[in-house]
Amino acid sequence: MRKPLVAGNWKMNGSSETAQGLIAGIREGVEAGVAAEVAICPPFVYLSQAAAMLEGSAVALGAQNVSQHDSGAYTGEISSSMLLDMGCSYVILGHSERRAYYGEDDALVAEKVIAAHGAGLKPILCVGETLDERESDRTEAVVARQLDVLLDTAEGLAALQDSVIAYEPVWAIGTGMTATPQQAQDVHAFIRQRIAAKDAELAGKIRLLYGGSVKGANAAELFAMADIDGGLIGGASLQAEEFLTICRAPE
Ligand code: PGA
Repeated sequence: MRKPLVAGNWKMNGSSETAQGLIAGIREGVEAGVAAEVAICPPFVYLSQAAAMLEGSAVALGAQNVSQHDSGAYTGEISSSMLLDMGCSYVILGHSERRAYYGEDDALVAEKVIAAHGAGLKPILCVGETLDERESDRTEAVVARQLDVLLDTAEGLAALQDSVIAYEPVWAIGTGMTATPQQAQDVHAFIRQRIAAKDAELAGKIRLLYGGSVKGANAAELFAMADIDGGLIGGASLQAEEFLTICRAPE
């Protein structure tokens, strides 16, 4: 069975002081018992603080981006080996904000997923359509394109073996407009079928997270859907109690 994963994407929020309280609260809540695997993805500069505070706990650590390069003259970039060095096991890649604001296209995202996996990280690959794409009935075409860039190469398919996919409709991110459980389930089922066409075993084991305005109040109904294996949580991951309510939602 697929163990549900709830991952918090802090984005560019917080300070070392707020991180301190948030991490302590999450650690305590997770130790009290949750069925899901829990991960937090703070900004790079707070990773070492988070790693120290999470030592010996079941809460996993992830980053929000990584370079496609191993090392060298890439000012401002962070490599996979650096993230591993800081105690990360996950890295979010291809988030719609990276695609929209930093020009990350499918080819670059695929390169990053392959590099991160090669180094030993578990990529959380984000896919999802904009409102315009949904309204013009292109949701499946867009998600297929974002997946195929990995599914269609041996290296990409190998990288997906240890990856998680997050379906995040762009129109639902940070807007309070959550996809209905059925809307999310339909795309999750499509993603799983698309993977199954290449690798049935992978399709059965890969975790597919939903992301986009998940809150304590709607998490359980989303996670109850057959192909939804947890969530990637933005805004609601910045408050320990709200995040913990979501972490407790999977059974
Ligand atoms: P949100 O963000 O939960 O604030 O909508 C989700 C995400 O962007 O990962």
